[in-house]
Amino acid sequence: MERKALLCIFFLLLPLALVSAGIPVLNSINDLRNIEFGHRFPRHGLMLLHFISGCLDVDNDALIPTFSPERRDWGFHEFYSNKGVFPPLQDKNTQGYYAVGNISTPTAYPLYPYVTHDYYLTPGNLERNMDRLVVRTCPNSPLLEAVYITQQNQGSSEYDASNTYQISPALLREIRTLSQNRVDSVDVFLYAAGYNVDSRTFTWNCYAPDSTYTVEDAGRMTLNESTAIMKGAVVNDHHTECYAVVLQVKSTESGYARLGWANIPDSLLDVGVMLALFNNDGKNLLSRSLDKRSYGTYDSNQYLNRGLQVKLLSKDGSNIFISGPQYDDADRKIPVGIEGYDASLQLYTKDGYACARLFISKTFTDWKTDLRNSWVGFYSNHNDASNSYSTYQNAVKFTKQDDTNIKYVIYSYVSSLSIQPGAQARFFLTKTYNNILAKTKPWER
Ligand SMILES: *[C@@H]1O[C@H](CO)[C@@H](O)[C@H](O)[C@H]1NC(C)=O
Ligand SMILES: *[C@@H]1O[C@H](CO)[C@@H](O)[C@H](O)[C@H]1NC(C)=O
Repeated sequence: MERKALLCIFFLLLPLALVSAGIPVLNSINDLRNIEFGHRFPRHGLMLLHFISGCLDVDNDALIPTFSPERRDWGFHEFYSNKGVFPPLQDKNTQGYYAVGNISTPTAYPLYPYVTHDYYLTPGNLERNMDRLVVRTCPNSPLLEAVYITQQNQGSSEYDASNTYQISPALLREIRTLSQNRVDSVDVFLYAAGYNVDSRTFTWNCYAPDSTYTVEDAGRMTLNESTAIMKGAVVNDHHTECYAVVLQVKSTESGYARLGWANIPDSLLDVGVMLALFNNDGKNLLSRSLDKRSYGTYDSNQYLNRGLQVKLLSKDGSNIFISGPQYDDADRKIPVGIEGYDASLQLYTKDGYACARLFISKTFTDWKTDLRNSWVGFYSNHNDASNSYSTYQNAVKFTKQDDTNIKYVIYSYVSSLSIQPGAQARFFLTKTYNNILAKTKPWER
């Protein structure tokens, strides 16, 4: 009886095993060492793999994502054919292939800075945006069936079959284990995976040389596990200095952009630099001299909006030395589930106001009936009692957005509260305060 069942499972799995036989499987961090994927500056594949591994629980061999590829979390987007690279889907209606890692698309703005950092340092470089991670969803289940790494052929949107690998659950688990409780986990992982740190080279003004990089003899740095752990202390090397520059946008207490900078090398301060804020269309909104301050913050009078970007310019404004990441209007937080429903809630900002998005599954057609008494409260601080909301709106009165998502309809509402550190949105089922079905993470300081 038992053997019969096993045989049956064996034959069910057989067709899949045959087609995927072409894609090599990587089972350990050691297996990552000798492949091309993401191994040199400014490629971002290994950082992306580290990041997504941290967003996946691995229970035996089950891959349990804390994100939803269908909702386009972290910039995941569906592609419809297997592009001749990946095994065909068994059921196209309930399964799909989703790719993440295209940093030039605004849905990827929430990716953490360590994933996008090298992209922003190297405008025009052909290698900075070629790495992708691909997942295959399970039929009728929130689990993932498989995780792959791949890369794009230069100048095309096709995936390169000879540089495509499946990542086994054991490898995903190993990356998570290596990373646990370590502030320097990315550096330790890059070291273990054989990343070429020497390839991170810069000219004296912190420009990164173009794709065809030549290793300069001066200022090379070597990294082994002990130096990886002490990396914060290695500051006397010019390449490390340029690499360590931090430029960021945060929120003031009243919805304006707070510009932050740190680790500006003396070589730049000596020639004189300006801090500037650009909008999503690349327009320069403000510039101011940095004097000799290598770190600090500046509260601007510009409303917070998606795509804002801090840049370091030459004294006369004619050259861009270094660019920071583009600001994510949802504070790099993916939506939180509304308990008991196929729906989720996200806090975001537009023109400095606190706003909320509702993601309602297209299969949840009765939502306006089931959630007819539901409302979203906006709080200036996440510690406030539920009846101390600043303002609210009924869920059914949210405005429908462009219908471009395959699985969800998105509704939004712009409140009258300014976005600010600590702000929160809560979803209530009924007109009382007892039934809280979702709370967003507090807006970051
Ligand atoms: C990456 O995203 C941009 C912006 O959405 C898009 O124009 C481009 O085609 C994408 N690149 C690839 C290779 O998919
Ligand atoms: C790592 O590098 C440091 C500095 O270059 C060196 O002192 C140390 O001996 C190296 N450790 C190993 C294990 O190679």
